[in-house]
Amino acid sequence: MKKLKIIGGEELSGTIRISGAKNSVVALIPAAILASDEVTICNVPEITDTQALVEILEYLNIPVRRASESLVIDPSHMENKEVPEVISKKLRASYYFLGALLGKFGRAEMYFPGGCSIGERPINLHLKGFEALGAKVTMEDNKYIVEASELVGAPIYLDIASVGATINIMLASVYAKGETIIDNAAKEPEIVNVATFLNNMGAKITGAGTSTIHIHGVDSLKGCFTEVIPDRIEAGTYILAGALCGKNLRIENIIPKHLESLTSKLREMGVPFKFEFDSLIISRTNDLKATNIETAVYPGFPTDLQQPFMTLLTYAKGVSTVEENIFENRFMQVPYIREMGARIDLKGTTAMVHGGTQLVGCEVVATDLRAGAALVLAALSANGVTVINNVEHILRGYEKLIEKLKDVGAKIELIEE
Ligand code: EPZ
Repeated sequence: MKKLKIIGGEELSGTIRISGAKNSVVALIPAAILASDEVTICNVPEITDTQALVEILEYLNIPVRRASESLVIDPSHMENKEVPEVISKKLRASYYFLGALLGKFGRAEMYFPGGCSIGERPINLHLKGFEALGAKVTMEDNKYIVEASELVGAPIYLDIASVGATINIMLASVYAKGETIIDNAAKEPEIVNVATFLNNMGAKITGAGTSTIHIHGVDSLKGCFTEVIPDRIEAGTYILAGALCGKNLRIENIIPKHLESLTSKLREMGVPFKFEFDSLIISRTNDLKATNIETAVYPGFPTDLQQPFMTLLTYAKGVSTVEENIFENRFMQVPYIREMGARIDLKGTTAMVHGGTQLVGCEVVATDLRAGAALVLAALSANGVTVINNVEHILRGYEKLIEKLKDVGAKIELIEE
């Protein structure tokens, strides 16, 4: 088991460069199989989620070459076969292979995606989309079999603006006959990243980034190039590290528009920062004002930054409220951050944070990716030493986390036991 040991209180200054977005790349890699020949994906973060997806590609007889920060993927001789549970279980986003294999071959077999501790995370809307396109969905000893003799474009309304369902339906419909319309589509930037990749192959997708996406089926998709957009959640996490411990900490390679909901909240709290080209420069302040956040679909406040943001709120003067509207169980770092001295009351999906505390290091456990990120921020800002257990959760979503933090002055080390 891997642990992180962090000695808190160090001032963070220098530059952290943001990597490619995890939530883009986990869809771009499965999408690559839709091309008839070689594709190149640049700016691919080296995280365990990426490695797990490459393992699935290689299992499907798709050679993958990593060339510096790019993946070169050649699906020209791939096989469509059931992906073993042991591989597909490594990450939830393996479910994008359902849409991609269905879209390309008219058939897909995948084990149920791993839920995770933040919520039940059903995929009923993904399956509703596949059925609307003419596929039949059956479940056979905890795997899905999705098959269609012919995929025909259709209008699909999403009851929830689901990121995963929006992307999976795009993947399944690029070769469908006629037009597919996704209504109440999610608008996250990662969806635009995937649509751009598919259009570079020759797909005909319009409206990505809005709540209505049109996909006109085509007969073939060729090899091409695409680039992973910067990870707005990684960027937000390090921006929060700067708000807690920074002294002119520069977060480089960001798209400011993707972070508007966070930066407007930081401005409300009185955090000193400024934008400079593709960077944000941020410093800590002792006069943090309390604020309230409600998570929402993009461009609202991202649920993935809710947990790291709560760490900052423990220092703000006054009482702040956090409303988690996307997932049913996304406060799992709270018991541990309370042990560090935070005063937080939970009631359903609302957290009330009584600020003005100084956290103190202790031994804690990462329960999920962003809870782990929240605990890293707590440890960096705490007095004394914090040990975080189960850091595999964190390392799967933050490329070179330890190196990036060490480079700006953090006292952080990985302990392998
Ligand atoms: C994506 O998950 C992200 N993961 C999540 O990031 C992110 O929190 C989430 O979008 C919301 O922005 C990836 O992109 C790999 P949803 P996804 O479908 O697609 C419900 C992280 O920390 N729902 O938009 O699974 C669902 O239960 C991760 O990087 C259904 O009910 O999220 C949830 O309550 C965590 N039925 C809500 O909708 C469905 O068929 C939003 O889920 C699909 C979703």
